[in-house]
Amino acid sequence: MKKNILLFFVLFLSMKAYAQDTVPSFSHRSSLSLDGSWNIIIDPYENGSYDYRWQESPNGFFKNDKPKNKWDRIEYDFDKSDSLIVPGDWNSQKKELLFYEGTVWYKKSFDFHKKDSTRIFLHFGAVNYLAIVYFNGEKLGIHEGGFTPFSFEITHLIKEKDNFVIVKADNKRCAECVPTLNTDWWNYGGLTRSVAIVETPATFISDYCFQLQKGSRNEIEGWIKLQGSQPRQQILIEIPQIKIHKRFTADSSGYVYFSSSASIKLWTPEHPTLYDIKLISGTDTVTDRIGFRTIETKGSKILLNGKPIFLRGVCIHEEAPYRSGRAYSLEDARTLLGWAKELGCNFVRLAHYPHNENMIKEADRLGLMVWSEIPVYWTISWQNEQTYKNASRQLADMISRDRNRASVICWSMANETPLSSPRLEFLKGLIRQARHMDSTRLVTAAMERHYLDASTQMIDDPLGEYVDVLGCNEYIGWYDGLPQKADTMQWKTIYEKPVIISEFGGSARFGYHADSLTVWSEEYQESLYKHQITMLRKIPFLSGMSPWILMDFRSPRRQLPGIQDFRNRKGLISEHGEKKKAFYVLQQFYEELRRNQEK
Ligand code: GCU
Repeated sequence: MKKNILLFFVLFLSMKAYAQDTVPSFSHRSSLSLDGSWNIIIDPYENGSYDYRWQESPNGFFKNDKPKNKWDRIEYDFDKSDSLIVPGDWNSQKKELLFYEGTVWYKKSFDFHKKDSTRIFLHFGAVNYLAIVYFNGEKLGIHEGGFTPFSFEITHLIKEKDNFVIVKADNKRCAECVPTLNTDWWNYGGLTRSVAIVETPATFISDYCFQLQKGSRNEIEGWIKLQGSQPRQQILIEIPQIKIHKRFTADSSGYVYFSSSASIKLWTPEHPTLYDIKLISGTDTVTDRIGFRTIETKGSKILLNGKPIFLRGVCIHEEAPYRSGRAYSLEDARTLLGWAKELGCNFVRLAHYPHNENMIKEADRLGLMVWSEIPVYWTISWQNEQTYKNASRQLADMISRDRNRASVICWSMANETPLSSPRLEFLKGLIRQARHMDSTRLVTAAMERHYLDASTQMIDDPLGEYVDVLGCNEYIGWYDGLPQKADTMQWKTIYEKPVIISEFGGSARFGYHADSLTVWSEEYQESLYKHQITMLRKIPFLSGMSPWILMDFRSPRRQLPGIQDFRNRKGLISEHGEKKKAFYVLQQFYEELRRNQEK
């Protein structure tokens, strides 16, 4: 009894610490969608914010001013201006904006009939990169980071008629930003995910967490957070398919901590069981679909529901198939993840930033385990406090948005970051935060390796000590020698931990055929995969792989005419959905692994 009270107390403290200030989860709420056409003003000189002395102007574009009489000189007019579709980046919607990095002002007008004693929020799925948001001329706030959700309460500002939202979206890169100046992906700018007006009761269920207790197969535990003036409410948890029908009373700060045992069909890639969950408080109801599974490591093995599993993966960028641009829709997710399933995957590495919710929910439904990452990529400003706060915020928002998704098995802190002690301290801080927020998932990062001797690779990045799984990117046969070089390569690590080869690969232009030593040809890429597989089979501590990459994607660093044309061509599939020869090499290998796993 004493032990249980102590255990409960520890659980209470750890969950309370990080459930404080997360963005209320709105994705399960009815709302007024503001998706569709928005008027825009392209503003490379920040004319909408500053006057000719570069002083902030009180009458900027956020005012949405209209001439009051015939001599009133207003030098902008949203309603007569061009438009863009939201969600969507601006670069792929307008030829003249393909390379544009700067400010674009967005305006959307709408009427809204508010119910009595409700609260109203303006919710964004994501805006790349820096968003300054105004509502009916009032500044609501700023959000930095292009891949996580945010919202503002507008209960006190909303009117019956002629409301207008104005967003100043700026995707200019900077050294102290996250990501920093240099990336091998296109810096798509804009309101890249859905925007909505969300109406809630005065006291509403703002967040919740349902997980299997660490190490248990039948004990569900978690918490629910009520936000509002009446926190001390009863909350009924209903999970009919496993006969859970339990009532709890929230404490003075609106928290319910619960645990309940049940006989649960665990979520697996073969059987991605999801349960309908309903949370009913005195004033609010929220529904969701959640799967339950455990994920842990043992030595160099990754265990799903207690059993060793090999992660048959592929990396994916959030690039839209066929039309290009930032992917956002359920259809985009179904196409991309459908190809991953066709490849024989049970795992996807969503690189290098949190992808949209459609991707994660579709992975839940399809049975694809997910590696989710924050864009701490290459040479971040490790000693800049604001940079750390920014990365830490993106990590908090990534975890709080997807903590109930069974598919997400690991949080990745970084990709290919150069060794240094400021970098190590920076990443150790993020790892501590991730473990504090979510002790049930694995923590990883994509690290680099080095040569011990001409035919031995070593993974001994000091960061390896602090993660659960060692991600390692290697380009033997592409940036490092010819494909055959992999045949005689052996691997070592100083850590007794699972290794995922989180990137390997080479480029090929679909349809370009030649002998296997001709670079850029499908045959070269095919050969590279064959030699890689020969090498990977021999790595004793290998627990997974995610080749770079499922589909060709736009990149500002790829300028070879007739081959790259501003696309990274390491895809196994072209941006038009055309499968390259290497696709079938990997598909065959994954089929073999799948059969072995079944045995
Ligand atoms: C890097 C990096 C990717 C990049 C890839 C490449 O390892 O992590 O973002 O696109 O290699 O060079 O193609």
